[in-house]
Amino acid sequence: MKYRKFDLKKDKDSVYRVLNECGWVHDKKKDKYLNKFLPRANTLVMDINDEVEVMATSSNGSIRYQDEKLKLSAITGVTASLLARKQGFAGRLTATRLALDAEKGAEVGALCIFDQGYYNKLGFGNGNCENLVSITPSTLKIDRKGKTPVRLTEKDYKKIHKNRVNRLPNHCAVTLPEYATQAELGDKNKNMGFGYFDESGNLTHHIWLHGKGKEQGPYWVQWLAYENLDQLMDLLALIKSFEEQIMMVRMVVPPFIQMQDFIEKPYLIKAMTRKAENQNNIYSTAYWQLRILNLPKCIKKTHLSCEDFNFNLQLSDPIGEYIPEEIKWRSIAGDYVISLGNKSSAKRGKQKDLPTLKASVNAFTRMWFGIMSASSLVHSDGINAPQELLIKLDKAFLLPQAHVDWGF
Ligand SMILES: CC(C)(COP(=O)(O)OP(=O)(O)OC[C@H]1O[C@@H](n2cnc3c(N)ncnc32)[C@H](O)[C@@H]1OP(=O)(O)O)[C@@H](O)C(=O)NCCC(=O)NCCS
Repeated sequence: MKYRKFDLKKDKDSVYRVLNECGWVHDKKKDKYLNKFLPRANTLVMDINDEVEVMATSSNGSIRYQDEKLKLSAITGVTASLLARKQGFAGRLTATRLALDAEKGAEVGALCIFDQGYYNKLGFGNGNCENLVSITPSTLKIDRKGKTPVRLTEKDYKKIHKNRVNRLPNHCAVTLPEYATQAELGDKNKNMGFGYFDESGNLTHHIWLHGKGKEQGPYWVQWLAYENLDQLMDLLALIKSFEEQIMMVRMVVPPFIQMQDFIEKPYLIKAMTRKAENQNNIYSTAYWQLRILNLPKCIKKTHLSCEDFNFNLQLSDPIGEYIPEEIKWRSIAGDYVISLGNKSSAKRGKQKDLPTLKASVNAFTRMWFGIMSASSLVHSDGINAPQELLIKLDKAFLLPQAHVDWGF
């Protein structure tokens, strides 16, 4: 498989066709993803008969591991035209993108899925279940009046991005570059934002919404950014202030709160709106996945509050068979001695007297991010270890809830 870098001038028509065939892009001239995002991201393409038919792109970002930051390769688009499907091209191009990013220093890979299973073949495992809430603003239980915000537009993209970068950090939070925020602002006829500034003129908290021009909604919250929870309450109060007119607001529940705490009579309203256009509910799904790309670097940034312990890790990684031969980085499969505690390390090798954990990178990543416990991964992901080691791992990785808190 021959791959190359995307070249907007040369490839615009063919990449537009690919993106249009999958239904993502409808305006060749103005679409931000095609014209602004892809040229600045790490975009690879593959030709068939001298025309681009497959594309995979990533953005260099960061992902938090508790108080540490790790270098992230966020896969921000994978697609094959309708003539290039089911031939293994898209999977191989994605693996190639990840391998090249790992060579350049990416420590973790993350992506959003179209369905479960496909990216598991490249070593990804499910992230945390996110709650998606659909609420009628008048049911919001928030005892403060909305303060008057400032209207934000595309021109404020630098301030908006800075506020996103400085938002209250949570475990697993992803941050992508400024060009991503710029593209994610989307169509100015459909999206709008409102925010609050401090006395020094810094945007401290804001909301970006999709649904502009709709008489009664639905509005989709594209994102919320806030530096503390009091500011989050301002944003919820702002949403509530739409209550006389807007029937439906949908969003991924922001980190640090349980949405149900802020809804009046959630069961009654859910029952009353059952099968209705504006049905109120909270729906849970795991739509993003992760994988470790550099085990020693990830484990070095792992500080756990457990007692120190060591074990052998026999790690399998399926990505290698999808990567072209000329690329040196093949996978992270192999034998490691892992030490966990306040200071942690992963070193290549085996130590005779230590218990052994056998795991895929998919499962190990899930355990390491605190998404699922080792004991549970035995049954869902087929990991294997002596019982005493599983119990130690269960306790060691009791981490805060993981949320990427960025749509990509
Ligand atoms: C997603 C997409 C790129 C996949 O393209 P593709 O050409 O089918 O992918 P590949 O050829 O690399 O892989 C096909 C293989 O994956 C398998 N596969 C597909 N979905 C799967 C799933 N959910 N679980 C397990 N395997 C899956 C297929 O069965 C096939 O297996 P085979 O090789 O044994 O026959 C393509 O459908 C597309 O462009 N969709 C529209 C855009 C999109 O949704 N992109 C993904 C964003 S996350």
